[in-house]
Amino acid sequence: MKKYFVLCCLLLAFTSKGFSQSQAKLSLQPGTPQLTISKHIYGNFAEHLGKCIYGGFYVGENNTKVPHTNGVRNDVVAALKKLKIPNLRWPGGCFADTYHWKDGIGPKDKRPAIVNRWWGGVTEDNSFGTHDFLNMCELIGTEPYLAANVGSGTVEELTDWVQYVNFEGVSPMSKRRAENGREKPWKVKFWGVGNEAWGCGGNMKPEHYANIYRQYSTFMADWSNTDRLYRIASGANSSDYNWTEVLMRDIPHHMVSGIALHHYSVINWDKKGPATGFSEEQYFATMKSALFMEELISKHTAIMDKYDPKKRVDLVVDEWGGWYEVEPGTNPGFLYQQNTMRDAMIAGATLNIFHKHCDRVRMANLAQSINVLQAVILTNDDKMILTPTYHVLEMYNVHQDATLLPLELQTVDYTFGTEKLPAISASASKDKNGVIHISLVNIDPKKAQDVTLTLDGKATAVTGRILASATMTDHNTFENPDKIKPVAFKGAQLKGNTLQVKLPACSVVVLELK
Ligand code: AHR
Repeated sequence: MKKYFVLCCLLLAFTSKGFSQSQAKLSLQPGTPQLTISKHIYGNFAEHLGKCIYGGFYVGENNTKVPHTNGVRNDVVAALKKLKIPNLRWPGGCFADTYHWKDGIGPKDKRPAIVNRWWGGVTEDNSFGTHDFLNMCELIGTEPYLAANVGSGTVEELTDWVQYVNFEGVSPMSKRRAENGREKPWKVKFWGVGNEAWGCGGNMKPEHYANIYRQYSTFMADWSNTDRLYRIASGANSSDYNWTEVLMRDIPHHMVSGIALHHYSVINWDKKGPATGFSEEQYFATMKSALFMEELISKHTAIMDKYDPKKRVDLVVDEWGGWYEVEPGTNPGFLYQQNTMRDAMIAGATLNIFHKHCDRVRMANLAQSINVLQAVILTNDDKMILTPTYHVLEMYNVHQDATLLPLELQTVDYTFGTEKLPAISASASKDKNGVIHISLVNIDPKKAQDVTLTLDGKATAVTGRILASATMTDHNTFENPDKIKPVAFKGAQLKGNTLQVKLPACSVVVLELK
């Protein structure tokens, strides 16, 4: 197996038409410890919110218009299989701390209805419940991540849920599971102990939540040493570093596998700006918020390192993505927004940050899969479209479980007014076949950039794909679903051990080196 490293870089200024003098410099450092980019940072999130579950994933067993399997859309299953989503978080979000799982099992016509208190006050008929979700995960080929109700639930409810889905032997809950049509347990590994305990999950103080966490997690049975649960504590809201500090201090580390972190790319919570037709000022502000993820992860990691230098406890960014005003005329509680090239920039740059910090960030969940916030899929009755975000996640999935090749990036700035951001973001990895993949993002909406990499071995071939469009506000629609999709990239040239790449404005490129 050949070994390629980018040893040093040349600063080259291409002056050909359409390309500015902007430059970026990448260098790989050989000899650094081998770290794996966990596939689980490519997780998705499906909440009972707006049209994510109902109309998005699930159209009901009696639907005659949309092809489905037990009520789950076939088009969605095929698209998510291709995306290789490694895990799917459910049923919330804020909904999770209002959800009583026993309402969602057994004959559908006997299930009680509730009001979805957080999301539009709509009636939730519980027709999509535990069996529906876990069977759907099997169909998609993804691992379920169940978010348990701590805010308004009980220890007993959670204990029973774990027993219901995971217990192999004879027990009251496994008996009930079998009566409801499922003999074998699903063996769910990922469990969230509440959600946003600092907010919709109970407005708790971190000291109080740490105690509650200890109590709830004690009664979540592993059942066997080989099937140990991966317990995730409800984590900080963005830069609330004290939350992480208290949890790391007060929760014994053997009781917790991951501590969560939520951060949305938002301009201003009171004035979020439109999902399409935004100005460059709004674009810049969104990207600034997205790139803040780098500082957030570094600072939360530093706190975790203090208590856990061996990095036993993971940082789980189980909600991230762009958050804008809802589309005009839609229910404000449904958080339905379009998805443009700006979202492609957020996705590409954020995943590059996660790769870089893969020694601590070992799981993450984009919010959300379908029809909500930074969705990978939008549906409209029997129609389905893939968003630019979908395409970035699909292009990037070559990094899943690959070995990180650390990059030292020196980039020119993307400036707007008096402010600036790094224009280029990048990451690289080597897969199990020795193939190197390099992901590059140029967030500058106007200037193309040139990147030069020098390799320590001679690659024989470079291929690649690019996601780009004429303007940053471009997006796919039900009328024009393929306006934005990845195409072959011809802008990379290999000369000996030097790789020269011309990155168009507002583009995402993934290269493959052999
Ligand atoms: O993803 C939408 C909401 O954002 C989630 O329900 C909540 O956890 C967060 O505040």
